[in-house]
Amino acid sequence: MIEMTSAFLERRRAATAATWNLDSGVVLVVAGDEIPVPGRGDRAYPFRAHSEYLYLADRERPGGVLAYAPADGWVEFVVPVTAEELLWTGLEGDHEGVPEGTRPLGELEAWVGDRSVRRLGAAADADVELRDGLIRVRRPKDDVELARMRIAAEATRAGFEELVPLIASGRTERELQVALEAAFLRNGGDFLAFETIVAAGDHAAVMHFSPTARKLRDGDLLLVDAGAEHRGYASDVTRTYAVGGTFTAEQALVHDTVRRAGETAIAACRPGTEWHDVHRAAALVVAEGLVELGVLRGSPETLVESGAATLFFPHGVGHPVGLGVRDTGAASDEAREPVPGLPRIRVDIALQPRQAWTVEPGIYIVPPLLARERGRDDVDWDRLDELDGFGGVRLEQNVLITDDGCELLTAAVPL
Ligand code: GLY
Ligand code: MN
Ligand code: MN
Repeated sequence: MIEMTSAFLERRRAATAATWNLDSGVVLVVAGDEIPVPGRGDRAYPFRAHSEYLYLADRERPGGVLAYAPADGWVEFVVPVTAEELLWTGLEGDHEGVPEGTRPLGELEAWVGDRSVRRLGAAADADVELRDGLIRVRRPKDDVELARMRIAAEATRAGFEELVPLIASGRTERELQVALEAAFLRNGGDFLAFETIVAAGDHAAVMHFSPTARKLRDGDLLLVDAGAEHRGYASDVTRTYAVGGTFTAEQALVHDTVRRAGETAIAACRPGTEWHDVHRAAALVVAEGLVELGVLRGSPETLVESGAATLFFPHGVGHPVGLGVRDTGAASDEAREPVPGLPRIRVDIALQPRQAWTVEPGIYIVPPLLARERGRDDVDWDRLDELDGFGGVRLEQNVLITDDGCELLTAAVPL
């Protein structure tokens, strides 16, 4: 395991300062504060430092401010640990005050003085120009980030390994969720990367379905989308199983199509490739499979361009993953015109080495989405009616872009 050292933080901070290229003023990167649960007395949501602060300070304590000024370099201000905290939470070390090398938050105001201030991180008025620079610094993952992502991926693998033997009719979605999450936390995960999705039968057609007490039935598809987090770094994996162990012919065709769409998309992942072209590569395979299934009519190219394929594959093929399940978003100058026929792609950039992405094609039969389009003539509506309650299939991998292709980070979870 590559441990965090001051050299890593210094490199991140130096790269950030070089990108900003400021000659005056100060920048305050704000960690954020605990958020109380409304009406619940002293209860608060689990605290997560803003990703920009965590990246530059590697600290999960609320209230902190990492400051930068060209004249002073980087100075870290931290809320001092109190005796009360040592009594009730005990998480902030074993002594009162601030860690070595940091200053009490109370000294920040005098340090800033009358200099102009720009804010980042959890600040409501975050500076877009500075954020754009930091987004570009954060995209290539360094070795500490990759080490944490690999731990998250291994915890996630262990979770799916424990899950699979439990998949049987009569079990509930909730039981599977609990087993999966427990295994994540027993195997190196320290948090969930996002709310676990366990969706059986028609529930699998809801993209972010929350598990319920409903029982699985033989013949159902079961879609599980889950990931562990380690020290802020995420894994994000989806697999789709047959309850009872055997896919029907239609389920097998859809599963195989989604698997091939993923493989085709992953084969396209290399430096220089535009993300919408990765999506298109997957969508063409999806369209072909939907023609074979009998629900679409036409050539794959036409079906992708007309948006017909998007009716069944209604989300982008993936997203940056790393520091959190959504790593950096798009910079303000990266907004792109939507590609005709494709769904909205939030981060549509060219791939570069050391970026990490999910690749997660899917095919779903989503009744409310289809109801709006009923009548269009590239869809065989009678065939579609036969697939009522089908649910959906998604298969999600995480890839790390290398100098000439990509490495699969989640290969150890069987498809
Ligand atoms: N886990 C939600 C997603 O795949 O983006
Ligand atoms: Mn996912
Ligand atoms: Mn994802």
